[in-house]
Amino acid sequence: MKARMTIAAAACAVLAGAAGAQAAGDAAAGHALARQWCSGCHVVDNSGQGPDTAPPFAAIAKSHGNDRGWVRAWLAAPHPSMPSLNLTRQQTDDVIAYLESLPLR
Ligand code: HEC
Repeated sequence: MKARMTIAAAACAVLAGAAGAQAAGDAAAGHALARQWCSGCHVVDNSGQGPDTAPPFAAIAKSHGNDRGWVRAWLAAPHPSMPSLNLTRQQTDDVIAYLESLPLR
């Protein structure tokens, strides 16, 4: 019973968040997600520290930072050299918001 209440509360919070920030993702959430899910292959911070098996996020921001559609399509489609991450729409928006928050050097 208690668990069910918690799940309902969490669902409400998610719905409220989604309604509040429709298309705009949350860059901070995207950053956290990128650190967790993408940093095994991509340098996701501006520190420059990390693996170089994939283009660093700073470079992706530079080449595709103004093209949400491209990044969305990339993340939605499977790529042989990158695992299919099955991000939700909100997670995709968050990651895109984070990419857009990086300086376009
Ligand atoms: C297991 C390794 C791996 C993980 C984890 C990974 N990627 Fe990648 N990613 C790659 C590789 C390798 C490429 C380059 C593929 C190519 O160019 O064909 C790539 C390319 C990309 C590109 C296209 C870059 C460009 O300019 O062509 C984007 C965008 C991207 N990754 C985003 C992400 C995001 C966001 C995450 C986390 C949610 C993530 N990746 C997690 C390996 C990974």
